[in-house]
Amino acid sequence: MCFVSKKLYTAFPFVVILFLLTSWPIYGKTEANLASAYKDYFSIGVALSKTDTQSEAVRRMVLDNFDSVTHEFAMKWSQVEVKQGIYDFSHIDSFVALNAGADKRIIGHTLVWHKANPDWLFKQEAIKPTAARDFYLDKLKTYIFTMMGRYRGKIYGWDVVNEAFNYDGSFRKSPWLDTIGEDYIEKAFEFAHQADPNAELYYNDYGLVNSKKQTAVAALVQRLKVKGIPIHAIGIQGHYSLTYPDLTKLDETIQRFAKLGVKVMITELDVSVLPFPGQEERGEDALISAERFTELNPYSEQLPDKIQQQHTNRYRDLFCVFLKHKNTVSRVTFWGLTDSRSWRNNWPLEGRTDYPLLYDRNLQPKPIVAELINLASSYKSACNPVRVYKE
Ligand code: G3I
Repeated sequence: MCFVSKKLYTAFPFVVILFLLTSWPIYGKTEANLASAYKDYFSIGVALSKTDTQSEAVRRMVLDNFDSVTHEFAMKWSQVEVKQGIYDFSHIDSFVALNAGADKRIIGHTLVWHKANPDWLFKQEAIKPTAARDFYLDKLKTYIFTMMGRYRGKIYGWDVVNEAFNYDGSFRKSPWLDTIGEDYIEKAFEFAHQADPNAELYYNDYGLVNSKKQTAVAALVQRLKVKGIPIHAIGIQGHYSLTYPDLTKLDETIQRFAKLGVKVMITELDVSVLPFPGQEERGEDALISAERFTELNPYSEQLPDKIQQQHTNRYRDLFCVFLKHKNTVSRVTFWGLTDSRSWRNNWPLEGRTDYPLLYDRNLQPKPIVAELINLASSYKSACNPVRVYKE
């Protein structure tokens, strides 16, 4: 029978305390998380809504899993310069303070877009067409200097211009194109660099596996470089599905952009599980007749396990492409945290039930979160060597 000596009895509590103290970092450390799993490859970000930022549970998940944050809506012009010359920075100030305090890289989205402009901006009857260019160049410069100047040194990078090209490579119709002309993009980057010389500057768009659109963006990057106007990365938005885009096309897109001497960011990643009839490409707001609603909203009650597995596999396949290009891809941002608040529930058809993100409607992580964490350390064998992974 083993007798524990008297001395050990008295020492026991100290042994336990000593163990806890020495192992505290293990107990105190959060589970392995996405951002730490990918810290040697690329930043892992998430877009947050106003509702998200008011939720303690969401804040905890952001702290635990992401090292970069983007606001989904609050930094768009219509939400900032609420009246001509009148700015409301209140929500952005708290968003920046909260995330800077948590050591998160903050991405400003977006300075120049054909959408989300304040109503008053392009309703200036008094401006003669011949004066429009100068008037709107001044408006653009003033806004960029005001917005970027306020957050200089706090916002790491900016989507300077968003979605400026069509699928055929032409300039998308935009009030900026109509008033300033085709060089509104270069001017926006020029002003942005002047406003915060240390901020990273990005061009952001969707559907960039489309070769003509890709060529237009590549030409823009080359124009900026020839003029000595800084651009640091191309944002590939990543609004995908279980079948779109073809992984080889995505692989080739990243390779093509890498040759331009800029980084690539996957800026708005979500993977819809719902049918997207018609276009191969993600066209304009391709709203579909509501009569087909039931057919196009097959998982209104819950997501079948089989589809959940396909969704997991699709994210893994996409990450295999990103990991193949880890020296080019510098950030992957999920366009939202939880399925319940994804814009994909309402596009291209309002009111569907989609499951595009990493967290479900109960704010629980889906299996894909653990799978992506594991993939970070096993991708050289786990990624399909035939299809996409050849470092
Ligand atoms: O906050 C108001 C709320 O007070 C109001 O009751 C409600 C009803 O009108 O609207 C709420 O604002 C909505 C906002 O999202 C916040 O939820 C706006 O109407 C709605 O237009 C806005 O949609 C955003 C959209 O961009 C337009 O700015 C989506 O959340 C956002 O996911 C989406 O993101 C875009 C990227 O910026 C660019 N790339 C494509 C991507 C998807 O469209």
